[in-house]
Amino acid sequence: MSTAPITYDPIGVFLPQHGLQPDDLPQVTPRLEAARDEVLADDVLWSAGGSVPAAKQPLDAGFHRLPERLLQEYDERGADSELARLQATADRLAAEVDRVLVLGIGGSYMGARALMEACCHPYHNELSRAARGNRPRITYEGNNLDNDALQGLFDLLGRNAPAQEITDRWAVTVISKSGGTLETAVAFRMLLEQLRISCGGDAARLAELVVPVTGASGKLFDLAQALGCEEIYHVPDGVGGRFSIFSAVGLLPAAVLGLDIVQLLAGAAAMNEHFRTAAVGENVVLDYTGICHLMEERRGCDIRVLSTWGKRLEAVGLWYDQLLSESLGKQERGATPLTVVNTRDLHSRGQQHQEGVRDKLITNITVGQGRREPLAIGQSALNQDGLNELAQKTVPDALQAAHRGTNQAYREENRPTADLHLEQLNEFQLGQLLQMLMLATVVEGRLLGINPYGQPGVEAYKKNMNAILRT
Ligand code: PA5
Repeated sequence: MSTAPITYDPIGVFLPQHGLQPDDLPQVTPRLEAARDEVLADDVLWSAGGSVPAAKQPLDAGFHRLPERLLQEYDERGADSELARLQATADRLAAEVDRVLVLGIGGSYMGARALMEACCHPYHNELSRAARGNRPRITYEGNNLDNDALQGLFDLLGRNAPAQEITDRWAVTVISKSGGTLETAVAFRMLLEQLRISCGGDAARLAELVVPVTGASGKLFDLAQALGCEEIYHVPDGVGGRFSIFSAVGLLPAAVLGLDIVQLLAGAAAMNEHFRTAAVGENVVLDYTGICHLMEERRGCDIRVLSTWGKRLEAVGLWYDQLLSESLGKQERGATPLTVVNTRDLHSRGQQHQEGVRDKLITNITVGQGRREPLAIGQSALNQDGLNELAQKTVPDALQAAHRGTNQAYREENRPTADLHLEQLNEFQLGQLLQMLMLATVVEGRLLGINPYGQPGVEAYKKNMNAILRT
């Protein structure tokens, strides 16, 4: 598994018009360093456990050193550590059931989905159990209020009959930090009844097949206790939903899928070290933040396009959409994130990115080496498509040509681009990338004077929805 550092190359933002000049970044270096110092100080303040000044509240800085804390505990306590217990629960579920439903919304499911799509077989859920390495399928629910989708899931699970074969057996991991989110609670209530039937009414078995991840108190915690669930995992205090991917919220589903959660955390910890020690100009977190900020402040580029090359990082992009939107979309400010998947979206959004309003900074995410051997286009006796001259070229060759050609076309139109590059799509590199994006978000918050933690604006719809429903 490659542990190469991920790289950030902003060469495509330095343009004669509508872009930046090479000496722009040094001009914001003192502000970037001050923002980093503040993020590091937040971490110390949070770790000290004392009272947090009103101006800093809420301060959910606990995500920052979570990877190191979990890895250290794993080294010191072995089988008693949280990481080992998570792995044991995941392995037990994998041995006992063929599908795990992950119920959660927002930060309580988007990270798990990002990890699954990036690192598992693209058709994981469609494969036979053997081809999945005996790991369960994962299905996401509790992330909407969609009657047809729920009915469809009940059809899939098999209604009103106890499960006989392992391929019919399923379990639920219900994830909600607050424990009171309506979408998740409604789905859990209904699916719990289905699961009870699936277990033949055996209450002890039911309790084994429900693994909640929640806060240390709350409605879900109380319900889990009433059910007799013995394996309850917690979203640590001071870790906000969209920053919780390296807690049980993301790690339990990842471990169920058979992903290497230690390497994931090791990648995140490596990014922390890089963030703390590398200078501006060599620091992917600070450089990315600085360029994004400058393009917004000086060039009005407040649409941040995360352009993923290949399908596997789309869910990472959607996870980042939430992270940026909920963290910085406050005080009538904050850039708007937009995830695209290329080359697919060159055929839908490409026109606008090439010739539309000059309000976009495009950050490409590229991967050097996929998880599988490159496929050659190949010779064919039927050459009506004219592809024989490309017979030796591979699909990654074609993708790379599309990426280079697109950057060139944007550059010729003075459209700014930057490249984030992962050498391989593996757990270590993904750990780096996700931690990098979380750190960049909080650094930018401190730079702008916006508290990146909390999401007061989300409460309004919940309050109204509950009032309307209960009238
Ligand atoms: O980032 C956040 O905190 C939110 O997106 C939450 O994850 C989301 O609202 C779900 O909340 P909960 O986990 O409390 O059900």
